[in-house]
Amino acid sequence: MSRALLLSFSPHGKAAQTFRLARALLREQAPEAQVTERDYGGQALPPLTREYASALTTPGGLSGPATERSEQLIVELEACDLLIICTPVHNFTLPAALKCWIDHVVRIHRSFTVSPQFEKVGLLKDRRTFVLVSSGNSRKSREPDFLSPYLQAILATVGIHTVRFVYLGAMVRGEAAVQRSLAQAHEQLSRAFDRQTGGHATISAGA
Ligand SMILES: Cc1cc2nc3c(=O)[nH]c(=O)nc-3n(C[C@H](O)[C@H](O)[C@H](O)COP(=O)(O)O)c2cc1C
Repeated sequence: MSRALLLSFSPHGKAAQTFRLARALLREQAPEAQVTERDYGGQALPPLTREYASALTTPGGLSGPATERSEQLIVELEACDLLIICTPVHNFTLPAALKCWIDHVVRIHRSFTVSPQFEKVGLLKDRRTFVLVSSGNSRKSREPDFLSPYLQAILATVGIHTVRFVYLGAMVRGEAAVQRSLAQAHEQLSRAFDRQTGGHATISAGA
């Protein structure tokens, strides 16, 4: 039985369109999956503490209460073989809630290490990952995208390489545009879900 971790980083939490779509998809495509749902957008993780920052940057400081939250989030991530991240675009990039999760999860000597050549090397096993990205603008706009390349790079840093991005654009352009985006994303996701392809891929939905 597969274990899915479904994360929302929208201020709308589990009511976000991306989250509801991901839930529906899991119900249809993996009804047997054991699903853990987390709302880190509506109920934000605590900001990093001074103790945590010191622990990460002090040799030998990587255990104890300062890293407890980080440990809990990494263990939760390690337990899944299917990861679904639901996130809006905020000001051309990822929302602060998602950055906070990353800062807890990307931890030296735990989820990544550094090679003698000073390259970061992931310590987590790769797992199938979908990133559902909701935005007000369409992908056809000329707006810069600082979310996708960053997220792809930081997930790779911890060892997660099999990532598919699915874009739900034009989500502020009225009900018809929202429904169109959702329907396109649903169809494309269903097909992508079936295919066990690896590597980075992008799927756009919405005008
Ligand atoms: C603070 C903030 C910043 C936003 N910045 C952008 C942006 O840069 N580009 C964009 O296309 N949409 C932007 N939006 C619109 C959201 O991405 C869009 O409404 C999205 O569908 C929200 O998804 P959600 O309901 O899952 O949170 C922004 C929304 C908020 C609240």
